[in-house]
Amino acid sequence: MPLWDGRFSEGPDALVLRLSESISYDRRLYPFDIQGSMAHATMLAKQGIIPQEDADKILKGLEQVKGELDRGEFVFKTELEDIHMNIESRLTALIGAAGARLHTGRSRNDQIATDERLYLRHVIDMIRGEVQDFQKALWKLGNDNSDAIMPGFTHLQHAQPVLFAHHLLAYVEMLERDCERLADCRHRINRLPLGAGALAGCTLPLNREFVAEQLGFEGVLQNSMDAVADRDGSIEFLSDLALISMHLSRFAEDVAIWFSQEFAFVEIGDAFTTGSSLMPQKKNPDMAELTRGKTGRVYGALMSLLTTLKGLPLTYNRDLQEDKEGLFDAIDTVSLVLRTLTAMLATVKPRPKRMAEAASDPSLMATDLAEALVKQGVPFREAHHQVGRFVGACTARGITLAEADLPLMKESIPTAVPEFLQIFDAAHSTSARNLTGGTAPAQVKAQLARWKAKFNE
Ligand code: ARG
Repeated sequence: MPLWDGRFSEGPDALVLRLSESISYDRRLYPFDIQGSMAHATMLAKQGIIPQEDADKILKGLEQVKGELDRGEFVFKTELEDIHMNIESRLTALIGAAGARLHTGRSRNDQIATDERLYLRHVIDMIRGEVQDFQKALWKLGNDNSDAIMPGFTHLQHAQPVLFAHHLLAYVEMLERDCERLADCRHRINRLPLGAGALAGCTLPLNREFVAEQLGFEGVLQNSMDAVADRDGSIEFLSDLALISMHLSRFAEDVAIWFSQEFAFVEIGDAFTTGSSLMPQKKNPDMAELTRGKTGRVYGALMSLLTTLKGLPLTYNRDLQEDKEGLFDAIDTVSLVLRTLTAMLATVKPRPKRMAEAASDPSLMATDLAEALVKQGVPFREAHHQVGRFVGACTARGITLAEADLPLMKESIPTAVPEFLQIFDAAHSTSARNLTGGTAPAQVKAQLARWKAKFNE
């Protein structure tokens, strides 16, 4: 029989157990459930609500239960529904009557809310570390190849030359904002629900501030109904994971493109590519594709939890139990993808010659030519028009912009001077973009140094 069987004359139907159990997945919360129970029991004794010797037995018993769980010896029982009752039941079997005092002044509603906040705090720190490892891998690839120039793209069309490292550092920036969002979300999550009871608080003289301090929370939640009813911390964290996944997915798409035969900008180590069961020659960037593909399930977890919450009246409803599986799956997915991409990056070898070839197309420097005219005092719209005419004239003759001579250039650009013929050089072009945030080697080197210092903080 369940621990709440007092008023019932028969046990739950087998189907009821199947639908209501959460122990098959909430077992991962056990270290946090035990941590919360230890702080709670310590507080109950300190406040004189339970005898100190019972609290001592509870603490010792919980240690023992934790040992069994750590070693994989613990026997989970589906009929005990969830992690809370599995642990409490085992504790009581171990220490007898004292175990029955642990749940004093507590409900599973404030208990699960506390477990989840402790768990999320832990997981946020883990994901932040993994994002930082990935940032460092991006940085290293850029730093090791800081001279490589490639075409930058808009509309997936050659646009202007950029440094390969500049492209990689764009992702480092995006991921840094992701880290900031995680840190911010952690503060809001880091508040104690315990003491809220089922929904209305508790008649016993609990000391919530003491429990909060013991558990390293930054404060106690100020409304007991809010404390048991909301899961906005999980939703916020899932939206952070969704953004991280979106960034990783875009990076994966870049890698898949760079790895294609048409681009051939990078080589990826054999350990991080896969073959075809049919075509013997194939070497596929499946890790990049799976990174892209896994993004959908992370978005799905976010949508699922938003939907679960939207119609719930205050306060606790059993629907809230559905907050876990999607959340856990999203965490496992993002963590695995991050670790895989970090390891894969260490095997990525850029092919700077291929990149340089692609970036050597003189038309990538058409904007540079228009800006040279602006320096002469020509209004930009007029400069744009003149250069456009020049591009058209070259195309009509089947030559590149760099192959044109001054007289031909002058037909479209009356003020053209011999120096304009030197503009069609990718290295010249990148060096000239020497503003903060630009792709000039001096700027990119400064950014690489800034990130290096930041990683060592
Ligand atoms: N397993 C439950 C959950 O995850 C714990 C809280 C159950 N509370 C209740 N009154 N049935 O939400």
